[in-house]
Amino acid sequence: MCSKYSALIGIFILAFQIVQITSLAELTNLKCNSLDETFAAIEYCRIKSVNRTYKYFSVKVGLFKIPISNVTINLAAFQRLNGYKPFLYNITFDACKYLASTNKNPIVKYFHEFIIPYTNLNHTCPYNHDMIVEKVPIDFINNRLTQVLPFPLGDYALHTDMYYHGINRLKFKIYLSLK
Ligand SMILES: *[C@@H]1O[C@H](CO)[C@@H](O)[C@H](O)[C@H]1NC(C)=O
Ligand SMILES: *[C@@H]1O[C@H](CO)[C@@H](O)[C@H](O)[C@H]1NC(C)=O
Ligand SMILES: *[C@@H]1O[C@H](CO)[C@@H](O)[C@H](O)[C@H]1NC(C)=O
Ligand SMILES: *[C@@H]1O[C@H](CO)[C@@H](O)[C@H](O)[C@H]1NC(C)=O
Repeated sequence: MCSKYSALIGIFILAFQIVQITSLAELTNLKCNSLDETFAAIEYCRIKSVNRTYKYFSVKVGLFKIPISNVTINLAAFQRLNGYKPFLYNITFDACKYLASTNKNPIVKYFHEFIIPYTNLNHTCPYNHDMIVEKVPIDFINNRLTQVLPFPLGDYALHTDMYYHGINRLKFKIYLSLK
């Protein structure tokens, strides 16, 4: 726990040294994959540009083994340098334990808060419904990335792998650019 806090403080200081200017996030790509069609199917997975200022992403995943409560998640961040290289975060956690007390894991909570107002993945286990992340606006992401905890400028990817009973069943990859 101690090391998670110091990692968070570390990135905060690092980011503050590098980024003091206003930057702008751009969603560049979104990929969703079901690795087990008997477990889950992707209904939609998209980035939409309504107009110049309103862009969002949405994901809906149908779950076929409900109710589910044995889920492990790996979050891995990448920064594009010469190809995408691991960047600061590579966290594996028990999703149900996290959801039971979200304050105990501030780093996971930091990532979760990017979708919390727009998702039904907001309650304790078990889950007995589809997973929906609906219309997360780029402005919201932008605000969190550039103000809540500033990141250095660059291209990033976040991979989210969902394991059910220890087997990787779902893969999500979101790509964004901070400039
Ligand atoms: C963009 O679309 C949103 C949602 O329809 C609307 O509220 C907003 O006024 C639009 N902005 C511009 C610049 O057209
Ligand atoms: C994350 O950490 C795990 C366990 O140490 C390792 O197996 C995996 O390759 C790492 N992933 C990345 C993207 O570095
Ligand atoms: C979770 O999200 C759903 C759908 O947006 C909402 O109806 C519900 O009130 C939220 N629950 C909590 C505990 O925030
Ligand atoms: C979750 O699944 C793993 C892998 O199958 C298993 O080892 C573990 O006992 C399960 N945990 C619970 C609480 O059922």
